[in-house]
Amino acid sequence: MDNHPIGVFDSGVGGTSIWKEINALLPHEDTIYLADSKNAPYGERTKEEIVQLSIKNTEFLLGKGCKLIVVACNTATTNAIDYLRAQYQVPFIGIEPAIKPAALQSKSKKVGVLATKGTLSSLLFHSTVGNLAEGIRIYEQVGTGLVPLIESGKANSPETKALLEAYLRPMVTAGIDYLVLGCTHYPYLIPLLKEILPAHIQIIDSGEAVARQTKAILEKNELLSNSINLGSHHFITNADVEILKGFFVDRSASLKITYQEF
Ligand code: SIN
Repeated sequence: MDNHPIGVFDSGVGGTSIWKEINALLPHEDTIYLADSKNAPYGERTKEEIVQLSIKNTEFLLGKGCKLIVVACNTATTNAIDYLRAQYQVPFIGIEPAIKPAALQSKSKKVGVLATKGTLSSLLFHSTVGNLAEGIRIYEQVGTGLVPLIESGKANSPETKALLEAYLRPMVTAGIDYLVLGCTHYPYLIPLLKEILPAHIQIIDSGEAVARQTKAILEKNELLSNSINLGSHHFITNADVEILKGFFVDRSASLKITYQEF
């Protein structure tokens, strides 16, 4: 048993979509969430920059005593998690696009993946596709500009809708029946995606699978909290606190959300 917090980091607010799934499954765990919005988007950065930013975030969370770290960012996972696992003792949970369930369930054998440039160009992404999606045609699309829009609180704006329509049209025309969201920011686009996509196209993200994996790794390492109280949660951003609060409209009063330079 271990009552230290779980650490979660992302290039910004997107990883809160993962945090919500973890909190729903593990309500007694304390958490610390680090939103590196000042340096977003990671998806447009070089691998070296992404590794350096991931080291900075990891060391901050380890300094707060975190027992496990969730890299709640596809771009940081695909570019930096191997390095982090080799360098630090704590377990790391990463986010990989949910290619496998989409490939298994697709009837048209055509699957779309919307992700950042940093994720789609990574070796880990290509080996995942090679291993898990045999016989499936993958339609990749870089979501340039989407993360900055979500980071500025415009997930539901006409500007975002126009970008999504342009990005998704070719894969819809090609006949995909599954769309994999390969960036933890993108679940906040689901309301718009449901307006844009034909109803038969299923949208998949990784949130629930990551929460289950986090629980399994805590159990395996005997790191689950034995607290009977609901966990306490500290969200730290190095940008606009009000925007981060906007992702918790129903419960921001019960969460500690603060600005800090890191
Ligand atoms: C980004 O910062 O570009 C997006 C993060 C992600 O890939 O989840």
